[in-house]
Amino acid sequence: MVTGKFFREVELTEQKSVTDGVVFPAVLSPTTAISNIGAFEEAIKAEKPWLESVLKKSSVILFRGFPVSSPCDFNTVVEAFGYPEAPNVGGRAPRVKVVGRVYTANESPMHKRIPFHHEMSYVPNFPSKLFFFCEEEPGEGGETPIVLSDSIYVKVKEKHPQFVMKLEKHGLKTTIIAGDEDDLSAVANSSWKSTYMTNDKKVVEERAAKLGTKLEWMGNVVKMITGPMPAIKFDKERQVKTWFNNLTSPVNGDDKTFDNVTCIQLGNGELVPNDAMEDCMRFLEEESVAIPWKNGDVMFIDNLMVLHGRRPLLIPPRRILASLCK
Ligand code: FE2
Repeated sequence: MVTGKFFREVELTEQKSVTDGVVFPAVLSPTTAISNIGAFEEAIKAEKPWLESVLKKSSVILFRGFPVSSPCDFNTVVEAFGYPEAPNVGGRAPRVKVVGRVYTANESPMHKRIPFHHEMSYVPNFPSKLFFFCEEEPGEGGETPIVLSDSIYVKVKEKHPQFVMKLEKHGLKTTIIAGDEDDLSAVANSSWKSTYMTNDKKVVEERAAKLGTKLEWMGNVVKMITGPMPAIKFDKERQVKTWFNNLTSPVNGDDKTFDNVTCIQLGNGELVPNDAMEDCMRFLEEESVAIPWKNGDVMFIDNLMVLHGRRPLLIPPRRILASLCK
C-alpha cells in the first residue's frame, strides 16, 4: 500500500487482484493534506505523473473520500488533469450539460441496465479517458460495473477462435436507425439531431462524413452506417489486445433481446453467432467489478482498456455525472 503526501491506496473487498500485486481498480483516498477542493486540485497537478502510472497499471482509479461535493468541484478535478475535452459528436447516449465540461452520464431510465461498452467505440473519435462523479449515491443498485477488456478478448478467443479470427480480419459494421426525436425510454436511442448536435441535415452530413459514417435518409428518419471498423484493438503501451467494440451494446440486458434500431454484423456481411454473443456477455458479467457508489466518488477510467456499464437502479435516487477526454 502506497501512502504519499496527498494520496493513500486503500483496499475494498470488491477489488480484483490482476497480476504482480496489481489491483483492479486502484482505490485512492486523501491524506490529511487534502482538506478542500483547492488542495485536491493542487495535489492532482503535483502528482499527475504518479496518478497516470497508477492508471496505466490498474486501468481505473476510484477516488474515494475526497472533498468533491458539487458538479463544479468535479469540473475542477477534471480540469486539473489537463486533458482536452472529447467531443460527444456521434455519441448515442442522451446527455445533458450540467456545467463546464460536465454532463449527465445518461438520461435513459435508471431501472434499465446499460450493457458493457467502451465509450463510443463505434466511431473513430472515441474518448481515451472518462471521468464519472457520484453526486447522489444510489439507494440501492445502479452500480457502474467495470471490466478489463483484454481479459474478455482472451476468454472469447479461447472459446470461439474461428469467430474471433473473422472478427480480427473483417471488423464490424454497425447500422443504426435514428429518428428526429430522442427516445428516452431506451438506453442509447438518441435522435440524429442529438447524435450530431445540430438540426441542420447538411451539417449532419458533414459531421457524419468526418466520422466515416454513411447516411441514408428516409424522410425524417436516417440510417447511419459505420464501418467496417476494427473490433479488436492492440494496446501498444501494455502490449495486449482489447475487446474494443460495440458487440453487446444493442442487447437490452434484462430481457436479452436486441433493440430494434441497431444492427451489427461482421465487415463481410456475416451475422455474429448467437452462442459467441451469449458467452461474451457471460464473461463480461463474470469478470466485472461493481463497487457501490458513495457520494463524492470520482472514477477515472482508461477507455482503451476498460468496458463499463450500468446496473439497474433498484431504489432511487442516483445522480452520476460524466466528463469525456480525448
Ligand atoms: Fe458509457
